Amino acid sequence: MKVLLINGSPHPSGTTAAALAEVAGAIQKNGIQTETLQLGTKPVRGCIACKKCRQLGKCVFEDDPVNEWIVKAQEADGLVIGSPVYYASPNGALLAALDRMFYAAGPTLAFKPGAAIVCARRAGTTASLDALNKYFLISQMPVVASWYWNMAFGNNAQEVTQDAEGLAIMRGVGENMAWVLKSIEAGREKGVQQPRRDKVVRTNFIR
Ligand SMILES: Cc1cc2nc3c(=O)[nH]c(=O)nc-3n(C[C@H](O)[C@H](O)[C@H](O)COP(=O)(O)O)c2cc1C
Repeated sequence: MKVLLINGSPHPSGTTAAALAEVAGAIQKNGIQTETLQLGTKPVRGCIACKKCRQLGKCVFEDDPVNEWIVKAQEADGLVIGSPVYYASPNGALLAALDRMFYAAGPTLAFKPGAAIVCARRAGTTASLDALNKYFLISQMPVVASWYWNMAFGNNAQEVTQDAEGLAIMRGVGENMAWVLKSIEAGREKGVQQPRRDKVVRTNFIR
């Protein structure tokens, strides 16, 4: 089994990286592999709503990490997305990437557990978690929690090491992700079927 972690910060060794490392460590302690990908600092395109992804199963833009994320997430059993808080939201570049990733491939990630974690200097964490969890919730991905909301505080990687509670919450995310994955595997071995989706009627609020 494998969990893919995505660091939505431009800093590969910043606060979000430190928090994700704590999550990954707890997952690995449970005998599950992890891989962490970086958003980086290169430009990320926003979605242009061309809807070509509906035929292609991937985004038309190949010059940023979105299509790699899609393939890696499809291969993984679970997904963790981490973001720094910018103006009480996740990093805008990360949201641009996730809009395209999930519009192209959200349905193919159904039933894989997902966890969002956020890092901030001081505020905006719950709104940011809410935004990230929505990608999982519309994609039928069970959302993995901890024993407090999945947040850690610090303005840099050194500061976050002083947030003992935040790092413990991150280990809780990792432990719970491992438990959910093992429970899904045990259910599959016992013949528990994935739920079938009813035929969807899209009304777009037109009466
Ligand atoms: C553009 C920008 C906006 C920010 N907005 C907030 C904010 O709304 N609330 C907050 O607590 N911290 C805010 N911060 C601070 C970052 O969330 C904080 O430094 C975070 O730990 C950075 O994570 P990283 O090291 O993984 O990049 C902001 C930082 C930047 C660059």
